[in-house]
Amino acid sequence: MTPEQLTAMAAEFGTPLYVYDAALIRERYRALESACGAYPHDIHYAIKANATLAIVRLMRECGARADANSGGEIEVALRAGFAPGEIVFTGVGKSPAELQRAVALGVKAINAESPGEVERIAAMARDAGAIARVAIRINPDVDAESHPHISTGLRTNKFGMSIDAARALAREIGKHPSLHIVGLHVHIGSQITKTTPLARAAEAMAGLAKELMAEGAKLEHLDVGGGLGIPYKAGQTVVSPQEYVDAILPPIRETGLTLVLEPGRWIVGPAGVLLTRVVDLKEQPADPAGGEPRWFVIADAGMTDLLRPALYGAFHQIDAVTPRAGADRLCDIVGPVCETTDTLGSARRLPPVEVGDLLVVKDAGAYGSVMSSNYNRRAVPAEVMDGKLIRRRQTIEDLLQWDI
Ligand code: LLP
Repeated sequence: MTPEQLTAMAAEFGTPLYVYDAALIRERYRALESACGAYPHDIHYAIKANATLAIVRLMRECGARADANSGGEIEVALRAGFAPGEIVFTGVGKSPAELQRAVALGVKAINAESPGEVERIAAMARDAGAIARVAIRINPDVDAESHPHISTGLRTNKFGMSIDAARALAREIGKHPSLHIVGLHVHIGSQITKTTPLARAAEAMAGLAKELMAEGAKLEHLDVGGGLGIPYKAGQTVVSPQEYVDAILPPIRETGLTLVLEPGRWIVGPAGVLLTRVVDLKEQPADPAGGEPRWFVIADAGMTDLLRPALYGAFHQIDAVTPRAGADRLCDIVGPVCETTDTLGSARRLPPVEVGDLLVVKDAGAYGSVMSSNYNRRAVPAEVMDGKLIRRRQTIEDLLQWDI
């Protein structure tokens, strides 16, 4: 997107504004798709990464299926046109209402997290006279070597079951008339930038699958979850889709089962930016130690619009849309929310900026708009794809409509 296009969109739709590039989303989907080659596979887009309806519909047009992590995401998937048989349902702590809906719809797989959950699914399926399709999420005790807050594959993380527990549960499911164990599932974390943990998780899952199949289980697929990282910083080393598939496929190929992937960030992350306008500037009090002068650049977007920097200390490149001439300044780019953690980027070098200038926060297409909030009674931003509004900005009336 050119500076002129970004400036025009900010003028038309206001700021903060999420801006997406549909062509880039399509291109990235195709890259992942072609990395899988001829081996049977289904790409289930992880709706949690970006759940805006137009984006979920675009993923469907691309040929993706859906990974839903809540009842809400199941409804979004249906609204976007996915059939129940194209949806996998994941998540710790599924509520009875969510499970009931998934069982009634007959989704492709409920990725079960515990023996208790499987019992509840079985009872619901029996009462409905249905056979629920269940996959077991394993926890392989593998360190994804990502940020601890987004690592999920360690024994001490709340996700999935040990291989031993999964083996025992699979045998129980096999005997149950209202359940069909269709596969296994693993997801060890997000923003993973090394192949070894991903390969180890796939090996652990494939090993168990082979055991279960030898005992007669009629598995259909192995779901490796999501997790492929993107370079948020220039020059950051990441894993390419081909390296990823080359790492995970060998053990899965030995089972002959369909490979299921649940990518989110890799597809949509780099295809979205957050546009924000500078609303104030303040020079910080002089550093008694004689450090370089430092400025607060106060933007109209903050942690309510893009939570990642505040929550994970995540880095997003921030640039002036139309850089002014002059020497760079040392800046903390902060938002308007009443929290010190409300920082989009600290200790950044920016060209001189003035109130009213536009900044672009890069790689905000994944886990950006979905994690926005109404804290401080702030309205969630509008979203635009290819220059067209795909979600209007909230108004104060929207925010007050639930209050009685
Ligand atoms: N499948 C499961 C079961 C997941 O839990 C996730 C992400 C995905 C797939 C998609 O993972 P991806 O391909 O996007 O890495 N809010 C955090 C990320 C949380 C990821 C949660 N699970 C962030 O802003 O970095």
